[in-house]
Amino acid sequence: MARGAGHGDSHAERLERFYRPQAGHYDSFREKLLHGRRELVELLDPPEGSIVIELGAGTGRNAEYFGERLLDFQHFELVDLCPALLEQARRRWALQPRVRIIEADATTYRPLQAADCVYFSYALTMMPQWRAVLDNALAMLKPGGLLGVVDFGLPRGDCVVDRCACEFWRRWFGHDGVHLDRAHVDTLQQLTETRVLRETTAALPYLPGLRMPYYLFLGRKSLTGNTAR
Ligand SMILES: C[S@@+](CC[C@H](N)C(=O)[O-])C[C@H]1O[C@@H](n2cnc3c(N)ncnc32)[C@H](O)[C@@H]1O
Repeated sequence: MARGAGHGDSHAERLERFYRPQAGHYDSFREKLLHGRRELVELLDPPEGSIVIELGAGTGRNAEYFGERLLDFQHFELVDLCPALLEQARRRWALQPRVRIIEADATTYRPLQAADCVYFSYALTMMPQWRAVLDNALAMLKPGGLLGVVDFGLPRGDCVVDRCACEFWRRWFGHDGVHLDRAHVDTLQQLTETRVLRETTAALPYLPGLRMPYYLFLGRKSLTGNTAR
């Protein structure tokens, strides 16, 4: 990660350049860095027969948090734009036909059937067109379907300390192509009926004393299919 996100011609090339060298050990490092993933899966709790989609699914690690419940889903789609990480996902899920690994851009991907549940885990902050991605995610969902997000956030306050913290975290994560923006949470709340919003902090690996902000969000697409804007 210390090498930073790099500069390729396209977003897909930049992702591949960043992740290819670390794809084999991506999961072990992220276990300590990406907090709240298991909690998000517990909040989602899709019922039997669901179609579940993770956008920006990387190595497919999060699908494991569903455990045996995954066997009751109609199917599970893991969508990502980075071939290096998808190779890991294909290896991981090779024996589970319910899990489909799909190389596609979350901005434009559309499943064949509408989903019961769409979620992002630390992916929205790596998607430059995050607003278009959220519109697309909503369009994939059935009316009443669930949209879940766990991701890095920013302090909410407006005092000098909070403003300095925001600047620090923006620069820190910006180096790796992770773009923090309070508008993510605000937009999620506008687009869906909010069920859960937890904004909190967690320890950073190897950096005692530093706590990074992250949030968990669960929203429901309205039953009429309309979104509040
Ligand atoms: C920090 S990783 C998170 C991976 C996984 N969700 C996890 O929790 O470990 C961000 C992921 O978003 C993917 N990504 C970024 N932009 C994308 C896009 N436009 N379409 C699909 N995937 C994208 C990256 O390739 C990467 O796998």
